[in-house]
Amino acid sequence: MGFSSSSRRLCVASVLLVCLCMLLCRVHGGSSHEKHLEEGINTLIPAPSCSARDSLDKDFHPNCWDQPTKTSTTKRQPSSYKLYIVYLGEVKHDHPDHVVASHHDMLTTLLGSKEESMASVVYNYKHGFSGFAAMLTPEQAKQLAEVPEVISVEKNKIHTTATTRSWDFLGLNYQMTGTGSGLLKGSNYGEDVIIGVVDTGIWPESRSFSDEGYGPIPSRWKGKCQLGPDWGINNCSRKIIGARFYSAGVSDEVLKIDTLSPRDHNGHGTHCASTAAGSMVEGASFNGLAQGVARGGAPHARIAVYKSLWGTGRTNEGSTAAILAAIDDAIHDGVDVLSLSLTSEENSFGALHAVQKGITVVYAGGNEGPRSRTIRNTSPWAITVAASTVDRSFPTVITLGNKQQIVGQSLYYQAKNSSGSSFTGLVFPDGCTKVALNGTDIRGLILVCLIQLGTLAQASRYVRDGGGYGIIFAQYTTNDIGPMADACQGIACVLVDLDTAEKIGKYMDVTSSPVAKIEPAHTLTGKEIPGAKVASFSSRGPSLDYPDIIKPDIAAPGANILAAVGDFYKFISGTSMAAPHVSGIVALLKAEHPDWSPAAIKSAIMTTARVTDKRGMPILAEGLPRKTADPFDYGGGNINPNGAADPGLVYDIDPRDYNRFFGCTIVRRTNVSCDATALPAYHLNLPSIAVPELRRPTTVWRTVTNVGVVNSVYHVEVQSPAGVMMEVEPTVLVFNSTNNVHSFKVKLSPMWRLQGDYTFGSITWRNDQKTVRIPVAARMTIQDFYADFA
Ligand SMILES: *[C@@H]1O[C@H](CO)[C@@H](O)[C@H](O)[C@H]1NC(C)=O
Ligand SMILES: *[C@@H]1O[C@H](CO)[C@@H](O)[C@H](O)[C@H]1NC(C)=O
Ligand SMILES: *[C@@H]1O[C@H](CO)[C@@H](O)[C@H](O)[C@H]1NC(C)=O
Ligand SMILES: *[C@@H]1O[C@H](CO)[C@@H](O)[C@H](O)[C@H]1NC(C)=O
Ligand SMILES: *[C@@H]1O[C@H](CO)[C@@H](O)[C@H](O)[C@H]1NC(C)=O
Repeated sequence: MGFSSSSRRLCVASVLLVCLCMLLCRVHGGSSHEKHLEEGINTLIPAPSCSARDSLDKDFHPNCWDQPTKTSTTKRQPSSYKLYIVYLGEVKHDHPDHVVASHHDMLTTLLGSKEESMASVVYNYKHGFSGFAAMLTPEQAKQLAEVPEVISVEKNKIHTTATTRSWDFLGLNYQMTGTGSGLLKGSNYGEDVIIGVVDTGIWPESRSFSDEGYGPIPSRWKGKCQLGPDWGINNCSRKIIGARFYSAGVSDEVLKIDTLSPRDHNGHGTHCASTAAGSMVEGASFNGLAQGVARGGAPHARIAVYKSLWGTGRTNEGSTAAILAAIDDAIHDGVDVLSLSLTSEENSFGALHAVQKGITVVYAGGNEGPRSRTIRNTSPWAITVAASTVDRSFPTVITLGNKQQIVGQSLYYQAKNSSGSSFTGLVFPDGCTKVALNGTDIRGLILVCLIQLGTLAQASRYVRDGGGYGIIFAQYTTNDIGPMADACQGIACVLVDLDTAEKIGKYMDVTSSPVAKIEPAHTLTGKEIPGAKVASFSSRGPSLDYPDIIKPDIAAPGANILAAVGDFYKFISGTSMAAPHVSGIVALLKAEHPDWSPAAIKSAIMTTARVTDKRGMPILAEGLPRKTADPFDYGGGNINPNGAADPGLVYDIDPRDYNRFFGCTIVRRTNVSCDATALPAYHLNLPSIAVPELRRPTTVWRTVTNVGVVNSVYHVEVQSPAGVMMEVEPTVLVFNSTNNVHSFKVKLSPMWRLQGDYTFGSITWRNDQKTVRIPVAARMTIQDFYADFA
């Protein structure tokens, strides 16, 4: 990028911001918001300013701005400095001030002066874990990595973002009076649980965030309401109890189209927050479709906003340095659940520390499906969420000129000029790309497109601009109509499958002037719609980073989810939408079981998940071709919140076990303890088992804790992966008041010498009341030198 040319402009900007900061600093008694206004700039210019010093002093020395600004003595070439993240492990001092001072001591030694040190630091991580983000040269970064206390030094990376119906479908029936379902009632709708949402901010005016009827903010809350140009102190409330923002490392181009405040100009963060914890809103719909009561999974939970993704529309961007700062603050502030609908490549220590402080961390798994090995955010301590469809569809009747009626799906809500009753011409161009369509007269006509020949976005734009009537878009069935809400905006866009397209094609072949009419969509829900399939876009396992564990962990609704965007309600699809469903459910579980660890909560969710629908039919995974879903599509299965509230047994993990494992995953470091028995990761007591290289008989142990009826007996039911003999010992577990924890041994033996592919099985502990199931994946292997990348 043109660094030198932009730096002058940035300097001017930073002066303006300093003025603004000073103003805000005084008005609001020196809260921390001013720091962040600077940081977006600071990352681009490692310039000397109050801001750098402020990142040291911000919380404790509000007079910072009254002191003269010091000037760095060195002539730095900005382009040789890059943002690095230096990780130092646990916080080793009582006071955050002292943590920060220790960072500067370290840097001063390296850089030669305190000024240099202060000028280079962008964020200090000092609450949940110790470390900092700083502008350094590659040489300095290398030297830092040699310092004994330093665990890792990584370059900053850039990230992007990855419901009226979904909650009924999950069995959480939100009748506020009377018959609320088990988990909702038991948890009092998540009252006083705090969900931290790390995303694009929030739109506080949405009805979903009304704080009417809420009691006081929980007294343990230590968060802040960080102000900005379009975010006043009133924008925080008893519902949105905190709001902060983090922009360091994000490009100037992206920050320019956003505002330095917690306000959401993108829509993504608002959608996610309202899905996790939106208050009840009667009569939410998208132009009359999917009408119902909109609400989050934990409608009484409190929301804490950590805006770390910037930009509007499809352009959005965040940085590792900023997301880590958000997580560090969230740990300090007292959130119970962290919901991250973003694709991260952070080395997961931020999430690790959060989990070790008792915070459940929920990540979206990514939208790169249906290809294998695309799942992201897969550290063992986090919950990684896949997206499924819900039992709702929007059938749309198309009548052809020969009176034949065919049905597609759309979000078409209004026949233009009430022409739903009249026929209009059909055109079938050679292609539906911008280039192929160039010059085609589409006025008043319906365009027929095949997915191979174009994209919906290009075709719909052409139809809208050219005064067309609509599009019939043929593709293999994905049922993902979310994108149509954006792309079609009032024109009739209908998704049909290839069989249906064939019928249209036959009609057009034999007709000289083919015509059709399109009626507005209806909303169809419930029994007649096949239940949750794993959505085609949902990223699939196994994990590239952690092949010794099964990822994703769970599937939750993520296709065509209606939730708040700005003042309205909008359909969006993505694992970004699935993650907050899980975050909401985690909040309910936390409220009902405050003593459960993040591992226990994850276990409860995974072991009770559904692998068949209500009729006993296997859950499918969309893709080419569609198939029966396996654990790399949905982990434990489709989430079953009421089951998770009372799982019987849990696979718990002592948070220290993660340390041993984590130490072994950090490459190039000596001073981190790596206990070889912690590897491979399948030795962690996770509610799943994956053995990616099964060459010889392999033994894995698991431990279960009874959280159900005290005196219980469970029998094992083993379903071996094909080609593998799986033996479990003992086969019966007897729990009583003195013995509420039992370990069992799982021995996996390959039946042949085979360079195989993954096969799947399960281990289920069962009694009359409970079914506690974990998925198993194994791959027989002979040689190292190739993997089957199916
Ligand atoms: C390892 O780190 C600890 C602090 O965590 C320090 O006391 C010790 O000196 C370090 N050891 C080496 C060999 O660097
Ligand atoms: C949020 O703050 C802005 C600016 O201070 C104000 O105009 C708006 O009404 C506030 N919204 C709410 C929901 O309080
Ligand atoms: C409705 O029809 C009138 C006249 O035919 C036209 O001017 C107008 O743009 C149409 N409206 C829409 C929404 O298509
Ligand atoms: C469409 O065609 C016109 C004239 O043939 C040409 O000038 C224009 O660049 C074309 N546009 C696109 C997008 O291909
Ligand atoms: C629980 O079971 C163990 C092993 O069967 C037995 O030794 C113990 O006495 C039992 N405790 C109670 C309270 O029944």
